Amino acid sequence: MLTSYDCVTARIIDEVGIPLILVGDSLGMVVLGYETTIPVTMEDMLHHTKAVVRGSKQAMIIGDMPFMTYHFSIPDALKNAARFIQEAGAQAVKLEGGVHAAETVQRIVQCGIPVMGHIGLTPQSIHQLGGFKVQCKTRETAANLLKDARALETAGAFAIVLEAVPTPLAALVTREINIPTIGIGAGAGCDGQVQVINDILGSFADLVPKHAKQYIKLTDVMSKAITEYYSEVKTGKFPTDEHSFHMDESILAELTK
Ligand code: KIV
Repeated sequence: MLTSYDCVTARIIDEVGIPLILVGDSLGMVVLGYETTIPVTMEDMLHHTKAVVRGSKQAMIIGDMPFMTYHFSIPDALKNAARFIQEAGAQAVKLEGGVHAAETVQRIVQCGIPVMGHIGLTPQSIHQLGGFKVQCKTRETAANLLKDARALETAGAFAIVLEAVPTPLAALVTREINIPTIGIGAGAGCDGQVQVINDILGSFADLVPKHAKQYIKLTDVMSKAITEYYSEVKTGKFPTDEHSFHMDESILAELTK
């Protein structure tokens, strides 16, 4: 699984054959310039989910439910989950939380909407967690992760994202439950992996998480191209005849008669 927030990127991911595209609320950080995912709204998410849906043919599109759009009440959560499916054209939603989110997950699933869980480092709770750091290293928090995973499985989630948890714990959770785990910073023992597309492409320079591998540094590639363009415009090297349009000279001549 990879994240995407626009049609063009989604098309490339889809054509490569990656089966799942997450329109993550990481949108807020890697596209919209916020410091956390908390300011992201339903309208932001629907706008970008629609673009990703337009770019995809085979991949399952999962819309990430933003902060506080599934907490006030079950009817509120159902209404917002439905908007991802009905208005934006996604096939599933993802939401953060384990035991405490289980009832909400169950009710959304009962409406026919597939739900992906997300436990471990849950960025919407960043102010409780005290930063983007590895989770579940103590006896109590490790046991809670397993309880959360089991609760989500029982509630009917079709898969669970495990974010920033120790590799052996993620592997244990993966063995203990019967739905797929998708890891991000959770090691190779998960059933699948997810990364934020900007992290693997090196197109978000502000923060490069330890768990991300940069396959290219697009910020450098982009900066070089933009610098060259700027310099060529200033020196008159661009545009050339090759990038210009022509017309009948006699029409031009008539204009100045
Ligand atoms: O918002 C997001 O991109 C996510 C992934 C990191 C799993 O939740």
